[in-house]
Amino acid sequence: MAINIREHNRAIWNKQVEWKTTWTIPVSQEEVAAARRGEWGIYLTPTITVPPSWFPADLHGCEVLGLASGGGQQGPLLAAAGAKVTIFDNSPAQLAQDRMVAERDGLEIMTIEGDMRDLSVFPDASFDLIVHPVSNCFIPDVMPVWREAYRVLRPNGALLAGFNNPARYLFDYEVTDKRKVLEVKYKLPYDAVKLHTEEEIQRLLATGECLEFGHSLDTLIGGQIAVGFLIAGLYEDTDREDENWHDMAADYMPLYIATRAIKADIS
Ligand SMILES: C[S@@+](CC[C@H](N)C(=O)[O-])C[C@H]1O[C@@H](n2cnc3c(N)ncnc32)[C@H](O)[C@@H]1O
Repeated sequence: MAINIREHNRAIWNKQVEWKTTWTIPVSQEEVAAARRGEWGIYLTPTITVPPSWFPADLHGCEVLGLASGGGQQGPLLAAAGAKVTIFDNSPAQLAQDRMVAERDGLEIMTIEGDMRDLSVFPDASFDLIVHPVSNCFIPDVMPVWREAYRVLRPNGALLAGFNNPARYLFDYEVTDKRKVLEVKYKLPYDAVKLHTEEEIQRLLATGECLEFGHSLDTLIGGQIAVGFLIAGLYEDTDREDENWHDMAADYMPLYIATRAIKADIS
């Protein structure tokens, strides 16, 4: 049986909204009010807010695409700061979080359901800025995302993207969970579909786990450059921790990377 990755991950993200997991909790009314006063910060990775210098000096009138950015986090703050925001995501439940905040706080946010690899609903040069929080781990191929992001950006527009450090996928997560040790198991780049039997994948579905893919740095960073972007910024980040969650790999390395890529004319 062929695995439908997009459907599998949509079902899990819809569930995550019900379970109120970290990446599905919308911003508060207070945070939106502060953003209206110009006090805001958004995350592409778990713990570090994106440097203000990565954004245009004034967001008013700036057309922003939140790419795989549903959940009511980035979109409402950017809209409250003056941007014209469109949020594009594969999960209807995540998109409903953005609409809920928009209605609650009197913001305008357009929401569109779709696959981050296919932005054909948007004409070329539609946006000034794309914010793309960690999410390309849920698709097997990243290059279409970089190509489409480049196409829908205006000249001098920027793509701000968060993604996983591919090395985090080396370890046997079941052993880590049970025995609290890191045991190298998987050859990189990690591919949940190729590396698991169908029975294991069904178990992932049943336990509410997404199908994940750990892309190479060549495709994550080199891929952006290959489609024409100029990399103008990069930082690493660690994981968010709470009483229920601690990824042991975070004790040894940064687990996330964020980049600022510009559609610059350097010819
Ligand atoms: C970790 S969340 C990131 C967004 C969230 N606002 C945040 O900052 O935590 C990952 C998002 O990617 C979305 N996603 C997964 N696969 C996708 C796909 N193929 N196309 C578009 N969005 C996808 C999920 O529905 C989810 O909303």
